[in-house]
Amino acid sequence: MKNCINAPVRAFLLVSTVTGAAAAATPDDFLQKFSAQAAQSESVPVSFSVQRGKEFFTRTHGNQWSCASCHGDDPRKSGRHKRTNKAIEAMAPAVNAERFTSKRQVTKWFRRNCKDVLARECTAQEKGDVLTYLLSLKP
Ligand code: HEC
Repeated sequence: MKNCINAPVRAFLLVSTVTGAAAAATPDDFLQKFSAQAAQSESVPVSFSVQRGKEFFTRTHGNQWSCASCHGDDPRKSGRHKRTNKAIEAMAPAVNAERFTSKRQVTKWFRRNCKDVLARECTAQEKGDVLTYLLSLKP
């Protein structure tokens, strides 16, 4: 399937590099990491899906907010924080080269935002789907 990335083998080879690396990273590093993490909890090969990621990003999960509530329905554009009303720069790496380049930022914000939206942390599968969706968006 065109929209699916299935790279557990590559992920296993790369994951030690990613987890051992300093703060700098690329979106692909995160994809490999989420893929390896998801593979650890699944007996079937892991694949990420643009469609699932989009659906996850735009719908609510029992609480008031979705990811799109702050990041906007179109992640190629800037969003606005629901509570503070502060602008948030675009999430799609194609239009914002700083996205998914910092381990610290990505870990911190996934944790915080997932708790706001889902009242729990996101799974590796969910993070991989979201990132795959964001990477599919062209300017
Ligand atoms: C209440 C508002 C709000 C919601 C809801 C929200 N976010 Fe965020 N998000 C932020 C803010 C604020 C930042 C940090 C500012 C920035 O990076 O521009 C951020 C940053 C991020 C980052 C850091 C990316 C990077 O490399 O810089 C990720 C990943 C992220 N959010 C994912 C999500 C996901 C996934 C959801 C849904 C589960 C979500 N966010 C929902 C406000 C929100």
